[in-house]
Amino acid sequence: MRRGYIVVFGNEKGGSGKTTSAVHLISGLLWAGFRVASLDLDGRQQSLTRYLENRAATAAAEGVDLLCPTHEVITASTADSARQARREDTMALAERLSRLAAAHDFVVIDCPGSDAHLSRAAHRVADTLVTPINDSLLDLDMVVRLDAAGKTFVAPGAYAVMVVEQRRARLARGGAGMDWIVLRNRMSPLGSRNSTMIGETLDRLSAVVGCRIARGVRDRVIYRQLFLRGLTVLDLTREPAKGKRPASAETEASLAAARDEVRHLLDDLWLPSLSRRLGRL
Ligand SMILES: Nc1ncnc2c1ncn2[C@@H]1O[C@H](COP(=O)(O)OP(=O)(O)O)[C@@H](O)[C@H]1O
Ligand SMILES: [Mg+2]
Repeated sequence: MRRGYIVVFGNEKGGSGKTTSAVHLISGLLWAGFRVASLDLDGRQQSLTRYLENRAATAAAEGVDLLCPTHEVITASTADSARQARREDTMALAERLSRLAAAHDFVVIDCPGSDAHLSRAAHRVADTLVTPINDSLLDLDMVVRLDAAGKTFVAPGAYAVMVVEQRRARLARGGAGMDWIVLRNRMSPLGSRNSTMIGETLDRLSAVVGCRIARGVRDRVIYRQLFLRGLTVLDLTREPAKGKRPASAETEASLAAARDEVRHLLDDLWLPSLSRRLGRL
């Protein structure tokens, strides 16, 4: 049997939009009719888990029919010996993945914002890796190093080096290549010099480390508001959640713009069979 396709959201920087973009992909895949499982590797914060719990609670309280993934959490091993902890983490991930990937079309994994072993192991098994970065030079530093003037590309950053290592390890074990996509998140609607510089730098990085750059996602209040109800902009633009939008929701036009940018993002991921089903979202 063909196993499910694994999409990992990772960046060692916290607050870059991993959980928010993961939950939007999950909801998009569900509305597109796929069988979806999700794995939260951020055992401390469990933001994805909380998001999905809120989603289930909204469905029950408001009587709306919201699709939910099969969701599980893995907490990192607390074994005393680092070696033993690594072994336990690797085994826990392999066990969950073999079970979930056998019964679902996609497994979406949300990583913690730190360099944990569990997170590295997930990067090694990713068919597609999505790395959201906030549109700031400080956040860019994990992915690419610039000189003091911010002009010259010096080297791939610590996180990019880790990704390249995991991809090599995967290839060395006979695995297929990994598609790595960097996503510019929380972009300002007003183009700035800073933003242009980040765009140019990422284009150069993509040629060096072999990643692709997706169309970005804007900074919008709506993305922050939806957590408590466990919803995504894709839920809000369709029945049955349509009549139950938050009172403070942005205007129709702005919601439609958010929905379009999420659809563009999903399209840019080039996931198997997803692009031709985007019309359903
Ligand atoms: N495009 C966006 N516009 C506005 N706020 C956003 C956007 N993406 C994420 N956020 C907010 O930024 C914060 C960090 O996002 P989160 O997805 O939790 O990041 P991570 O999982 O990488 O730590 C959250 O408060 C979230 O609501
Ligand atoms: Mg998170």
